[in-house]
Amino acid sequence: MVSRVIPVEPFDLVIFGGTGDLARRKILPGLFRRFCAGQMPPEARVIGAARAEMDTSAYRTFVSEAIQEFAGVLTCEDGTLDGFLERMHYVPIDARGENGWSELADLMRDDVVRAYYFSVAPGLFGDLAERLNLHGLTDEATRIVVEKPFGRDLETARALNRDLAAYFDESQIYRIDHYLGKETVQNLMAVRFGNMLFEPLWNSQYVDHIQITVAETVGVGGRGEYYDKSGAMRDMVQNHLMQLLCLIAMEPPSKFDPDAVRDEKLKVIRALDPVEPHHIVRGQYEAEEGAPGYREEVNDPRSRTESYIAMKVGVSNWRWAGTPFYLRTGKRLKARCSEITVVFKALNHSIFGEQEDHRNVLSIRLQPNEGITLGVTIKEPGPGGMRLVDVPLDMSFADALGDHASDPPDAYERLIMDVIRGNQTLFMRGDEVEAAWAWTDPIIDGWETRGDVPKTYDSGSEGPVDAVQMLARDTRVWRKVAS
Ligand code: BG6
Repeated sequence: MVSRVIPVEPFDLVIFGGTGDLARRKILPGLFRRFCAGQMPPEARVIGAARAEMDTSAYRTFVSEAIQEFAGVLTCEDGTLDGFLERMHYVPIDARGENGWSELADLMRDDVVRAYYFSVAPGLFGDLAERLNLHGLTDEATRIVVEKPFGRDLETARALNRDLAAYFDESQIYRIDHYLGKETVQNLMAVRFGNMLFEPLWNSQYVDHIQITVAETVGVGGRGEYYDKSGAMRDMVQNHLMQLLCLIAMEPPSKFDPDAVRDEKLKVIRALDPVEPHHIVRGQYEAEEGAPGYREEVNDPRSRTESYIAMKVGVSNWRWAGTPFYLRTGKRLKARCSEITVVFKALNHSIFGEQEDHRNVLSIRLQPNEGITLGVTIKEPGPGGMRLVDVPLDMSFADALGDHASDPPDAYERLIMDVIRGNQTLFMRGDEVEAAWAWTDPIIDGWETRGDVPKTYDSGSEGPVDAVQMLARDTRVWRKVAS
């Protein structure tokens, strides 16, 4: 299968925070991979901007090291890394002062797409937006890209939206949720809306429940300071799991265009029920041999922040009322595994007499080993009557599509190219983010008011036993967390 790469228009991409961790690990390696794929036109340039005093030549060394460490397999022919580095520039800049802005203005070109990536703390978004405007660095075609966390509650998210809206139209603002850039997350839409098979059954009449799991094996590591102020709810549920839920639950948009898709996602978020406290389990991982527990890692023996969360969520609309969505995510779990499972209802009448409970289960595996499995019921081979057994119709995307699927572009690669193309479909709109916080805030406020303490769970386990019990009360079971 041949991958089609359509070059984008020439651009000047400025990365504020150009020496930061995200730039080093994701943005620069992602750009390099797109360059290797032939998607960056010769006129495209990347301008790192940060407080550090360095010149363009030192920045090129920094970029080269980042690429060697994080770009993965370098498929470029000899010499092309240099070709890529030639497009790199650097300007030392002060987001809150005047230093560097006129140098940046001298560097920017008028006849190319201008994009500004705010890979900085959200507290600087407003300052950057203001200075870009003040120094005449924007026009109506300019795009800005902002990273999560987009606020820590509704109030702060609204303030950020207001700060950006003072200088930019919504059509110019690209709020990144990197889950939307994952190949298989987009496949959720392809599976749902590109097949006749599933959509007629995709509702509470046929679906018993849906599980969304994002399990990680890593702990909070060096991010303890940030993480302990966020927890799994703010770090993962309010954004990544919420987006997955939206793509699974939304009505078919009339077309695959930014506002049609985002309008439908917004309706899902607004239809989410408030969550009862007994429908949530929060957990914190304990130490294991050679690895510290959560509280040690964040250096706070009394921390009440959750590194795991499981919850039962209702979507009150015509399609889903009565079908629960079970969400769970956590760190230091048994395996790295993100998947969405749609468990269909049992047959309402079996012509084969008394049988065990057999159901169709559709499982969409997001990472790793991307693919789809559909559990179907067949006859167990051999004599002795009509005994039924469930078997998987298993499709790994790598097996079905070859190399093309086994090395998909990283989420950031796709999203950055979408910014240059001016396609906002895979970015969150301001009202979506606010609606997500409006649903999240009362849940977090409830924990704080009641002083809830997370349950502990063993590192390397599937999470707290209370999460298992939560489903058992509904006579359901979680899918195994397995890689
Ligand atoms: C980030 C969270 O947004 O997503 C991290 O801040 C988490 O805590 C990461 O580890 C997971 O992303 P991925 O792409 O590895 O599933």
